[in-house]
Amino acid sequence: MPTYEERQNLEPIAARLRNAVPDADLLVVDDNSPDGTGDLADKLSEADPHIQVLHRTDKAGLGPAYIAGFRWALERGYDAVVEMDADGSHQPEQLPQLLAALDHADGVIGSRWVPGGKLLNWPKSREALSRAANVYTRLVLGLKIKDATGGYRAYRASALRAISLDTVESAGYCFQIDLTLRMVEAGLRIVEVPITFVERERGASKMSRAIIGEAFLRVAQWGIARRLHRSRAGAQ
Ligand code: GDD
Ligand code: MN
Repeated sequence: MPTYEERQNLEPIAARLRNAVPDADLLVVDDNSPDGTGDLADKLSEADPHIQVLHRTDKAGLGPAYIAGFRWALERGYDAVVEMDADGSHQPEQLPQLLAALDHADGVIGSRWVPGGKLLNWPKSREALSRAANVYTRLVLGLKIKDATGGYRAYRASALRAISLDTVESAGYCFQIDLTLRMVEAGLRIVEVPITFVERERGASKMSRAIIGEAFLRVAQWGIARRLHRSRAGAQ
């Protein structure tokens, strides 16, 4: 669970998660939040051995935070790794459904854009952005995934080992698309399960123009690389 300035959200979401899936360990990956989210995470960790904290020195984006968290989990022999936001948008009560689907998949995406997927209180502008990002991604990359930008996911450890995390450069939310594409190219099986995405009630989104710009450019680059690769393969 990556955190940047989630002081008001961390405690309730951690409690809900511990309650919904008591077997799971929670790793908070905090980028030295100025509001003291990291200190609060330490306190939660002292009180509950199932909660751990990874402190990073700078806000470096969602991608590097997740890569550090995945490495932490892989080094410790976990067989499944989940990503979820700390702001309540991803409901811990739906995690059992994601984990159940992982029995028959290498990766599971909690999806807003498959039948049964829902949005609660999301501003129309964010809904439009998410829809546009997914249409653009599908067109440029030729993926069949409906919610390639979704951030509520479960991976088998074996899948994360198969997609060379060392070469991931995505800093912002295109990290999600990046990993989706890597899974598809590695021939891994992705399943989407519907989720209800709930807009945060406290704190602010870290979405920015820079994050949108990075996603737009990287997806274009990946799309070109895929097309070149295909036409070369076709010419042989
Ligand atoms: N450690 C760390 N470092 N955490 C971060 C950073 C960072 O640089 N940036 C964001 N986070 C954390 C937030 O604190 C939150 O827990 C989570 O990542 C998601 O950030 P939000 O800012 O709440 O994202 P959003 O609601 O705008 O975007 C959601 O939708 C995107 C598009 O579908 C998320 O689910 C994204 O993962 C998703 O790509
Ligand atoms: Mn959010």
